Amino acid sequence: MQNLDKIKQAEIAVYDSGVGGISFLPTACSLLPAERFVYYGDLANAPYGDRSQAFIINRAREIVAFFRQRGVKALVIACNTATSAAAATLRAENPDLPIFGMEPAVHLAVKRGEKKIIMLATELTANGEKLRRLLSAEAGAAEIVTIACPGLMELIETNLVKGETAAIKEYLQAKLLPQVTDGCAVVLGCTHYIFLRGLLPRLFPGLRLYDGNFGTAQNLRHRLAQAGLLCPEEGQAMVGEIPCFGLPPEKFAAYLKLASSLEY
Ligand code: DGL
Repeated sequence: MQNLDKIKQAEIAVYDSGVGGISFLPTACSLLPAERFVYYGDLANAPYGDRSQAFIINRAREIVAFFRQRGVKALVIACNTATSAAAATLRAENPDLPIFGMEPAVHLAVKRGEKKIIMLATELTANGEKLRRLLSAEAGAAEIVTIACPGLMELIETNLVKGETAAIKEYLQAKLLPQVTDGCAVVLGCTHYIFLRGLLPRLFPGLRLYDGNFGTAQNLRHRLAQAGLLCPEEGQAMVGEIPCFGLPPEKFAAYLKLASSLEY
């Protein structure tokens, strides 16, 4: 009993290759206000989108070992690329740890009746088997165009928070202009791209945007509740007090502030 109480109080781990997964934290804290989160941004090994699957699995194992040492009660892979490459392996190797992944929010866009969907993702996600299966199961009548965006993650990591948007705008215009049509929607299939929620509609007015943050946080709450693992004490999830590893603290704080200002 005492042990279960201790598990309920434990942290929820969140990781990504860099700042992308930070976009998940404000949503998670607002849906799970009693929980404590801990973040790992694996910047030393980013971008994951250009890496091999074997490399990402290896890093995922090391990150899980780090978090297990801290005694976390659940893990969120707040990275579409690492989910695609490593979630199945991690789950098989850690049957006692609830592991949540992040998938491009195609299901949601189709459910909302979108007819043309542009899916932006890293190269690894775009070419992965997991996405191929997701699209064949979820596309329905919608036309889905997948665009791999090598280099975009780096622009978001380094330029966005400084307010330097010229190179990002140029990149997005080159990638999206040939595909954007009236009334189309964009699925942000990489957590870094969620930080473009402010910029994209300014470049392409009327564009509807989808991402996996809310769905993943809901699923996390639901599954922890089912397992009886929610923390019973209200009022602990302080966005500003999340421990962070792998990223300079000032970078983490700046992107957390940006994440908290995103409009959904
Ligand atoms: N943020 C990651 C994702 O959601 C990947 C970025 C990268 O490291 O390439 O896919």
